[in-house]
Amino acid sequence: MIILAIDTSCDDTCIAILKIKNKTLPAGKQETKIKSFEILSNIVSSQAKIHQKYGGVYPALAKREHQRNLALVLKQSLSEAKLLKSKIKDKKLKTQIKIQKLEKILKREKILFDHLKKIFINYQKPKIDAIAVTIGPGLEPCLWVGVNFAKALGFFWNLKIIPVNHINAHILANLLPQASSNFQILNSKKLFPAICLIVSGGNTQLILMKNFRQYKIIGETRDDAAGECFDKTARILGLSYPGGPAIAMQAVKIPKSNIQNLISKIKLPRPMINSKDYDFSFSGLKTAVLYDFKKRPKKVKTSKKYIRKMAKEIQQSICDVLIKKTIRAAKNYKARTILLGGGVAANKELRKQFKEKIEKELSNVQYLMPNIQFCTDNAAMIGVTGYYYWLKNEIKNWKKIMAKANLRIN
Ligand code: KG4
Repeated sequence: MIILAIDTSCDDTCIAILKIKNKTLPAGKQETKIKSFEILSNIVSSQAKIHQKYGGVYPALAKREHQRNLALVLKQSLSEAKLLKSKIKDKKLKTQIKIQKLEKILKREKILFDHLKKIFINYQKPKIDAIAVTIGPGLEPCLWVGVNFAKALGFFWNLKIIPVNHINAHILANLLPQASSNFQILNSKKLFPAICLIVSGGNTQLILMKNFRQYKIIGETRDDAAGECFDKTARILGLSYPGGPAIAMQAVKIPKSNIQNLISKIKLPRPMINSKDYDFSFSGLKTAVLYDFKKRPKKVKTSKKYIRKMAKEIQQSICDVLIKKTIRAAKNYKARTILLGGGVAANKELRKQFKEKIEKELSNVQYLMPNIQFCTDNAAMIGVTGYYYWLKNEIKNWKKIMAKANLRIN
């Protein structure tokens, strides 16, 4: 089976193609049948440069860029997967009628229609069995472009559509890329209950996972998401967007010599670290950075030393809160696994400190985190999740699929 997966939930235009095969593993005397996932292509077209000057994602611009990019990314993705086959220009009446109908489906996506029409006329239907698409949560205008695009492909190529929850996909990104072995691990009952920490630019959630399809949000941010906090504080410091990698890069530049002496102490709060619930709040942290920045003389706040020290403290504050609350949740819910996911899970310091803490305090708990390339938005994770939904028969008539900006996992 081959799945084409689409994600346009935020500012990256993502298309991936996954092949799912049956594989037989010789396990001692007994053979085991497993699913093997092969990523035929995984394209992420980043809009970071466009949003740079806003210090965050500008939804109307992101939507326009998705409309411009999707057909190109599709072509690139099909070509990499060796599924793009030209045909003699199709001028048949049947095709013309279909194109007219397509224009109706894409009535709000004029640029996309113009690009897609060329693909349908010039290329054969690729050997794909289904389309998986993110329907939420995310930025509503961006989600709709992806959903309408999926509907257009589904209609023209007569393919089923699997609507996917983006947060669920961040969790199941843990199945990539060695999906076959990880699929077995995650399917094993021994790993549940699991506590999942999903930290991205738009979401910060602690989720209790009872099995593949049973989730409960036990805590979430009351204001800014952890990634948003990285982005906003980076902007205060004059660093580039996205702020997470920019801050992480400055934080590692701190020399071993005691920088503490060079700049009067920077100490940021750890918001809600001791609250009894599992909620988070990061807007106060951003305000604390702004106050500290404002009170410093220009010469200090623009110095490399100040920026590096502040970057390290911002990163540490976010790590402290995320780790402490996740560990407490894992203890209280007697979790057998802790799973990370989302763009902020790409942070090397967070990954390292989590590992150390789990080994020290919860040595029986299994710790899974996606490969760094599968933490930030990508469509490969949508494909794996889509496949899982497919197994559960969660396929929809494409006409009924809607984008849902505030889609919840539970
Ligand atoms: O999951 P993602 O790609 O998109 C959303 O769905 O939001 O996450 C993007 C967020 C951005 O806020 C970005 O600053 C953050 O993830 N991020 C990081 C790192 N890489 C990306 N934050 C901290 N450290 C990183 N290495």
